[in-house]
Formats: sequence, C-alpha cells, structure tokens
Amino acid sequence: MANSSIGVAVIGAGMAGKAHAAAYRNAPALYESILPPIRLVSIADAFEPVAVAAAKRFGYSRHDTSWQAIAEADDIDVVSVVVANHLHREIVEGLLDAGKHVLCEKPLSDTLADARAMDDAAEKAATIARIGLTFRRTPGIAYIQQLIQSSQLGKVLHVSIRYWTDYAADPKSAISWRFKGRTGSGALADVGSHASYLAEFLAGSASNVSGGRFSTVIAKRPKPLGFVSGHGHSAVSDEYDTVENDDYATFSLGFDSGAAGTIEVSRVAAGHANDLQIEVFAERGAAKFNQTRPAEIELFLTEGDQAQQGYRRIPLGHPHPYVAGGMPIDVAGVGFGQNEGFLFQARAFLEEVAGLDESVSLPRNAGFDEGVHNMELLAAVAESERLGGSVVQLEK
Ligand SMILES: NC(=O)c1ccc[n+]([C@@H]2O[C@H](COP(=O)([O-])OP(=O)(O)OC[C@H]3O[C@@H](n4cnc5c(N)ncnc54)[C@H](O)[C@@H]3O)[C@@H](O)[C@H]2O)c1
Repeated sequence: MANSSIGVAVIGAGMAGKAHAAAYRNAPALYESILPPIRLVSIADAFEPVAVAAAKRFGYSRHDTSWQAIAEADDIDVVSVVVANHLHREIVEGLLDAGKHVLCEKPLSDTLADARAMDDAAEKAATIARIGLTFRRTPGIAYIQQLIQSSQLGKVLHVSIRYWTDYAADPKSAISWRFKGRTGSGALADVGSHASYLAEFLAGSASNVSGGRFSTVIAKRPKPLGFVSGHGHSAVSDEYDTVENDDYATFSLGFDSGAAGTIEVSRVAAGHANDLQIEVFAERGAAKFNQTRPAEIELFLTEGDQAQQGYRRIPLGHPHPYVAGGMPIDVAGVGFGQNEGFLFQARAFLEEVAGLDESVSLPRNAGFDEGVHNMELLAAVAESERLGGSVVQLEK
C-alpha cells in the first residue's frame, strides 16, 4: 500500500464525525510528507442533509446514506466509524468483512459481549482495526506520561481524574442515544471511557475498582422535534422520554503498582462544558493537566532549592510530544486543543495503513483489545455499584 493512494470514508457526520473528516483532510500535511496520496472519498450519514453538508465542507468527493454503501465501494480503503455506540458492532464487523481498515470511536461498543465479538472479528481480519481513544495523543498528557516513564516524576502514588461536562445540565435539553442503555452507559461510557483509559495510561494497569456510584439526576427529558447532533440542543416537544443511564458516576481504582486513584465524571456539571482535569502525584513531584488550557501543563518537581519550590506552568511547544515537528507553527504559546487529537490519531492510522514504521512519527492507535479492556473496567464499575460499592477485581 505504501506507494499507492488511500481512499478514506467517515461513517457518521455528527459531532465527532466532523472531527474525523477534518482530520483525514489535514493529516498528510502534519509532519513530513511521507504518506501516499490520500483520497477523501465519502461521508455517510443516515440523515442525508448532514452527510451532504459534511462532504461539501470537508472536501469529500461524495456522500452516502448507509454504511453498506461504504463497505461495497471499491475506491475506499480506510473508514472511521463515528456513530452511536450501540451501532458500532454491526458496522465495524461489516466493514472488516468487506476488507476495510477500520478506526472505531470509543467506547468500543455499548456492551462488553459486543466489544469482545468485535475484537474477535478484528483478530481474524486481514485489515487493521483501531479504537479512537483520542486523549492519549493530547500533548500535555503524553508529556506527563513521558515524565513518569523517564523517572523524572517517578512512580505514581495516586491519580485524580475528573471529566466534567454540562451538555445535559439543562433539563429541557433533548433526549438522544446518549441517554439510552444499561447502567453505566451514560456519563461513565461517554467520558468515563476516556478518564479510565487515561488513568491506566498514566499509572499503569489497574487491578481493581471500588466505590462505584451512579446517579441519574434528571429522570425524563423532552423528545427532540428535529435532528440532534452530538451534545447540541434542538427544539423539543411536550412529550417526555425516560433517561435510562447515569448523569454522574464516580469510582476508585487500585493499580498493580499499589497506587490508587479516583475518577469522577458528569454530564450535568453546569459551567463545565468540557472539563477534563488530571492530577498525578508521584515520588519525585506532581503534574496537572486541564483540558480548558490544553497547551500547557503544571509541573512540580521536589528536586532543587526548597525555597523555590512550587508548581511551574509549562507552555507546550516543539520540545514536547506530538507538537515536535508537526504543528505548522510549533512554538510554545501558539496553542492547540482537542481537535488536534483527532488529527494526530488520523495521521497515526494512515501511517499504519500505509505500512510505514511506527518509529517514523507517531505511536500506533490502541487496538480493539485495549477497547475491550477499557469496557471490562467500566463493567467492573457497574458491578461495584450493584454491590453497593464493593471492591471488584479486574480479570488479568
Ligand atoms: N473521541 C472523542 O473525543 C469523542 C467525542 C465525541 C464523540 N465520540 C464518539 O463518537 C461516536 C459518535 O458520537 P457523536 O457525538 O459524534 O454522535 P452524533 O449523535 O453527533 O452523530 C452520530 C451520527 O450518526 C448518524 N447515524 C445514525 N445511525 C446511522 C447509521 N446507521 N449509519 C450512518 N450514520 C448513522 C446520525 O444521523 C448522526 O449524524 C460515539 O461513539 C461517541 O462516543 C468521541
């Protein structure tokens, strides 16, 4: 594949689908020009107007209205699956059967059984299947992980991650697929999948979870009158529908290393539109990341003159992961945000599909096995909640 062109499609033109569409468009211009030509072929969405609009906006040659049309197309090699979680399995398996390389959004599915089946399908497939756990590619988070791995921060002692959002804080906001499904498929699956993945990315493999607690604070929400995309609000009817899953979730983690951690996620945290906050405490210091200030981290190192100790703000630029040699202007202070995570992810996926060595620029995206593990952890949180907060061991 290294010398031929790669045809790309995106299934789902909602909130994250647009981020994937934009990312494939810009990925070739990130870092050195080593990718084969990328053809932006199609954007598919069951709701045709958004497929048409996205294809036009991001420069894709055509639009489609079904995933089957993408699976059947000979001119498409790589497909992002960016639809509601309960639709992932059917679409991903259909695409792998059709010989496509697949990048599936997180969480891998809405049930552990489906996620495991998808991993089996990926194992058997001749093509590449990856999951979009985007935040591992956030430069600040990747840099904190480097500081831990290089022993500058040293062994992690404890970690605290809060992912507060407020897309559902308004009780009049419309119900959507995000509010349907089993216990733990709400805020925990939506943003807790990111938080728990990052907890292990930074502190290593988890051995158990405990203190699972979910809360559904708004039991019914109005039905939308029109199309609802992502977290967006639409006009609503007078009819109400039941919210089935968690608005808020919290739990603790025990890691193999002996470290501990806590995670708290919410979709009703008014005033916090997209607030991922990480604090890591380690043997030689501590570090903080806050998604509302994504182009910097705060770092505290215990070495040096005690009289000058304190948290330092470090603006991220060319010496830091992902920014290095990649961003058009890689000078600290120029800034970047969450959209770039999709760009790094798309670039890494295209490099892998093109057969380029992992060492060329970016580490590979996570495999479906990591997506299954992430869902096992979330399922253990639901089990802990069912048992009144008891410790639940994770299978190794
Ligand atoms: N990595 C991240 O940071 C991130 C951010 C947001 C969402 N996500 C993930 O992306 C996925 C989609 O979330 P979203 O917020 O973009 O959803 P969304 O509701 O905004 O968009 C989903 C789109 O899928 C379309 N659709 C529904 N059924 C379809 C079908 N059978 N075939 C084709 N299109 C279909 C809908 O019309 C809609 O436009 C979810 O898995 C979510 O967890 C990831």
